[in-house]
Amino acid sequence: MALRAAIIGLGGISAAHIGGWKEAEGVEPVAGADIAEEAVARAEQQHGIAGYADWREMLDAEEPDLVSICTPPFLHPEMAGECLERGVHVMCEKPMAADVPGAEQMAAAAADADAILQIAYCHRFHGPAMRMKQLIDDGILGRPVFFRGAFCGLSNMEGNHRGVMAQAGGGALMDNGSHAVDLYQYMLGRIANVSCRAGTFLQDMETDDVAVMLFEGEAGCYGEVLVGYSMPPQFTEWRIAGEKGVLALENYMAGPVRFWSAETDEWTDHECDTSRSRFQRQFAHFVECIREGTQPRSNAETALHTQRAIGAAYEASRRKGVTVPV
Ligand SMILES: NC(=O)c1ccc[n+]([C@@H]2O[C@H](COP(=O)([O-])OP(=O)(O)OC[C@H]3O[C@@H](n4cnc5c(N)ncnc54)[C@H](O)[C@@H]3O)[C@@H](O)[C@H]2O)c1
Repeated sequence: MALRAAIIGLGGISAAHIGGWKEAEGVEPVAGADIAEEAVARAEQQHGIAGYADWREMLDAEEPDLVSICTPPFLHPEMAGECLERGVHVMCEKPMAADVPGAEQMAAAAADADAILQIAYCHRFHGPAMRMKQLIDDGILGRPVFFRGAFCGLSNMEGNHRGVMAQAGGGALMDNGSHAVDLYQYMLGRIANVSCRAGTFLQDMETDDVAVMLFEGEAGCYGEVLVGYSMPPQFTEWRIAGEKGVLALENYMAGPVRFWSAETDEWTDHECDTSRSRFQRQFAHFVECIREGTQPRSNAETALHTQRAIGAAYEASRRKGVTVPV
């Protein structure tokens, strides 16, 4: 029997979830809930799912097997907690929460639940990122020493939940920065300590529109994450240096992953499997985890670490570092 999927929050990212469930084998999206009337009406018309104004009412009426949570971060812990308590599998959008205590609350609910929790750090399923990880795991770099993940773009976030501290817990660093930090964790391991600057430079909002984070991994590799809603996309780049050379991903969407060898002083291209999108892989993976009872690639433990690293970065940014003597 097909797994019945419901979606809480019918804004921007929800279309990827509804589409994802339509495409995933053995899943059928049946319902969606949103406090905004027009979002409910749009989902009903465009996707033919039943619409609700109240997400708890939807859970009671539809009794779904799985739920996508696509609301602003401050709502994730309560919604995910209640779904998990009901034994409903949860695909929750990133970040887990607007703060570390919220993420810890969700992780505790997942540990007690008889259901699967996946956090939608979808870039773990992006073909070029997966290729980079595979090459690192195969030892192409030798010892990695420096990671640079710059995820930049120009997006006006004034009026969006991402600009409201109480709803998002942070701006570009919490949003795109958490993807970049999560990719570091995926490829190179956990983060031990961080320094950071996160500021609001060009947009009229409470959260950061430009941020830079410098850190040290538990395995010793340094990392730098640079993100911004007010940073030109020309700044975007992914590079990892190691004792044997450099891995570079210049065309993030399609690859190839390029490797410069210190031994031969030559660049080699490694093609990436882009036959399926990160979303297609993410949703298929979740269904597989439900069927086999296994932990997702992006789970409570990995996403909680990412949330803690981002929380530590904001804390470091408030401390301002060491003043240069005049
Ligand atoms: N994985 C990705 O690449 C990716 C991309 C975009 C967004 N996201 C994440 O998805 C989440 C949502 O982002 P978005 O861009 O879709 O935001 P959005 O503001 O476009 O949509 C959020 C929706 O939630 C609804 N909502 C608010 N309170 C609600 C409640 N109590 N009950 C039901 N619905 C409620 C809003 O009315 C709105 O329609 C965020 O956590 C964001 O970081 C992830």
